[in-house]
Amino acid sequence: MNITAKTKIILIIGDPVSHSLSPQIHNAAYQALRIDQEYVHIAARVSPDDIAQIIPSMKALGIRGLTCTIPHKTSILSYLDWIDPVAMKIGAVNSIVNDAGVVKGYNTDWIGIARPLQKKIDLKHKTVAIIGAGGASRAMIYACVTQGANITVYNRTVEKAEKLAEEFTIRFQGMDHLEEVSSADILINATSIGMTPESHLTPVPKQFLSSRQIVFDAVYTPFETQLLKDAATAGATVIHGTEMLLEEAYAKFKLYTGFEAPEEIMRKELFSTLGIL
Ligand code: ATR
Repeated sequence: MNITAKTKIILIIGDPVSHSLSPQIHNAAYQALRIDQEYVHIAARVSPDDIAQIIPSMKALGIRGLTCTIPHKTSILSYLDWIDPVAMKIGAVNSIVNDAGVVKGYNTDWIGIARPLQKKIDLKHKTVAIIGAGGASRAMIYACVTQGANITVYNRTVEKAEKLAEEFTIRFQGMDHLEEVSSADILINATSIGMTPESHLTPVPKQFLSSRQIVFDAVYTPFETQLLKDAATAGATVIHGTEMLLEEAYAKFKLYTGFEAPEEIMRKELFSTLGIL
């Protein structure tokens, strides 16, 4: 441990937050770049009732970076000094930087979707089916819309899908129209369906999956979700939820420290923590 009186704090807040892997991943990266004297990443459970105190505390304590996770990504917006236009459009921030007392909010979630997809395909004019219409879905829609994809959002609560569709000028459907997904080039799960402990569940029946598709699951516990297992069996190209986690972590790392993220170190740390190696 290399912490001194000059070490700057990077903090993740959420409720709950004890499951977060951010401290391990970022601290491993600080160590690898030998900047662990400059930065330390810790976590704090913050109740939604205390949200108004967060940004004043960040300023008072000189906290350099603040990562927000559920349920704070939207409620913190009104306390910031500046919001990146992309975060404004998505309607959520997950990365906040304290620049000499000026607190600036960014969203890196969409990068976690855009980059892994860009590595596999050019999204222009591709048909994308996004399952879910919550906070994660907004970042995914933004990522795909800005790259010229044709998107349909499917959701259990159709009204929520309709609202998103209006806002982003995309199509919407209820989950009772999932058979349409068979003709999509890319399928993205933005719901929590299939997450441990309900890992036997899947958002999309396997008969709608095929070898011409790319299937991206935002769920990363388990690593091999039922959706991704079915997709692999159908011969589809799969993208694991860990890719989203890593790409958005790399982007945050740069925002907080100014350094390029040591990607392989962060990947290794995540995979060994999840027991995937
Ligand atoms: P997040 O910020 O992670 O997106 P959220 O805003 O709570 O979380 O959104 C969760 C999404 O998963 C919603 O689209 C939700 O559908 P509803 O809008 O109908 O609630 C979807 N979801 C969660 N569990 C589901 C389930 N068992 N079946 C269908 N959809 C589910």
